[in-house]
Amino acid sequence: MDKIKIIGGKPLFGKVFISGAKNTALPIICASLLTDEPVTIQNIPFLSDIKSLNALLLQLGTKIEEKSEERNGHLTQTITYHTPQPTSLVAPYDYVRKMRASYYVLGPLLTKYRHVELSLPGGCAIGARPMDIHLSSLEQMGAKIEIKNGYVVADVDGRLQGAHVAFHSASVGATCNILMAAALAEGTTVIENAAKEPEIADLIDILNKMGAQIEGANTSTLTIHGVEKLHGVTHEIINDRIEAGSYAVAAAITHGRVELVNAPAQFLQTPLDILRKTGATIEMTDNGFIVDAQNAKLVGQDVFTDYYPGFPTDLQAQFMALMCVSEGAAMITESIWENRFMHVPELMRMGANINVHGHASAIVRGVEKLSAAPVMSTDLRASFALILAGLVAEGETIVNRVYHLDRGYEHLEEKFKAIGADIERIKIPD
Ligand code: UD1
Repeated sequence: MDKIKIIGGKPLFGKVFISGAKNTALPIICASLLTDEPVTIQNIPFLSDIKSLNALLLQLGTKIEEKSEERNGHLTQTITYHTPQPTSLVAPYDYVRKMRASYYVLGPLLTKYRHVELSLPGGCAIGARPMDIHLSSLEQMGAKIEIKNGYVVADVDGRLQGAHVAFHSASVGATCNILMAAALAEGTTVIENAAKEPEIADLIDILNKMGAQIEGANTSTLTIHGVEKLHGVTHEIINDRIEAGSYAVAAAITHGRVELVNAPAQFLQTPLDILRKTGATIEMTDNGFIVDAQNAKLVGQDVFTDYYPGFPTDLQAQFMALMCVSEGAAMITESIWENRFMHVPELMRMGANINVHGHASAIVRGVEKLSAAPVMSTDLRASFALILAGLVAEGETIVNRVYHLDRGYEHLEEKFKAIGADIERIKIPD
């Protein structure tokens, strides 16, 4: 339960190297279960979520070889996953409760080994997070699914069968799981209303390199012609648009100038448009972009979260922090998760003026300054929003429960220190 201490008031200047995308790495690591040959994944970020997933794969019988290497100007991880024959087809509660994305083993294990037992992840701080789309789609593909003692127990006689499935929500997780299941199914699967997030296109890319036949990347209709076997591959994952967007806000909120190296600007059009309207200048570079707000008068802008290419829900909390110190009123609407304003009371403890209406919208009226306070992070992105508030608050802010940040932001204090933030981790012995 480490804490982070920040003394606010310093504009940030310099360069931040953006890491590989967590939400791409997680399904792609599980895609390695679809072949008995080694799969090497480059540009994996150093994060506790990756460690948690690796621990699960180890217990399934995967051999894992990790190496650190310098790529694109900074230290990254290359990991080889090799599962010649799993020693278990069970994803136990202790692993899944630590990291929901453990559910990405469902599609691969069921389609290749015809049986899987997955502890149901349950809800979390931001919402109920049901799995009905994953499960009903697999049933349409011939799986027999039972819920027993908190586990999904799924079986199939022979191969899964291609099917036409229409999702009621464009779920990222379900799209990944069904893509992986359908890759080795018999016949053709069509997913309608599939998610179009860039993470999906990267998963399709590696699956096709492994020998899958998937059409329709970046559209909401995906067609998967099942094949009998997939093979090993080496693949470099894309960089993290959410990490890049988070540091972009850090530059803007502190009135600094920060270059985001290796930042995938092409996946951030909606948030960057809002950042521009807020008053920051965005300059494109060969491998990223620069956010400059040195002389900007920040003006509040409305934010409406939506499926990609709409504004990402995973940047909502960070943009709310920005609006707290921007002039005028900004309406923040959360349309993806039913409980994603847990950061509001914490921001208000720092002097923010926010009115929440129901579960979905909040009006933020900009204040001249925030004041430091001890605050509690509730989830990964909310924690970063509290760091942002701390960077501009008067005095010393302590952010508690830093383990949330370690799940999804690589080398956070180092990256912030490199651009001049007064930030420090307070280690609390276990
Ligand atoms: C992923 C991201 C998460 C992000 C979210 C939305 C990872 C590891 N996590 O989560 O950071 O906030 O996308 O961009 O990539 N839904 C159902 N039934 C289902 C599945 C989902 O109703 O079976 C609903 C959810 O309740 C939610 C919406 O669909 O309202 C989107 O969820 P989904 O895209 O599945 O989110 P995750 O993949 O869990």
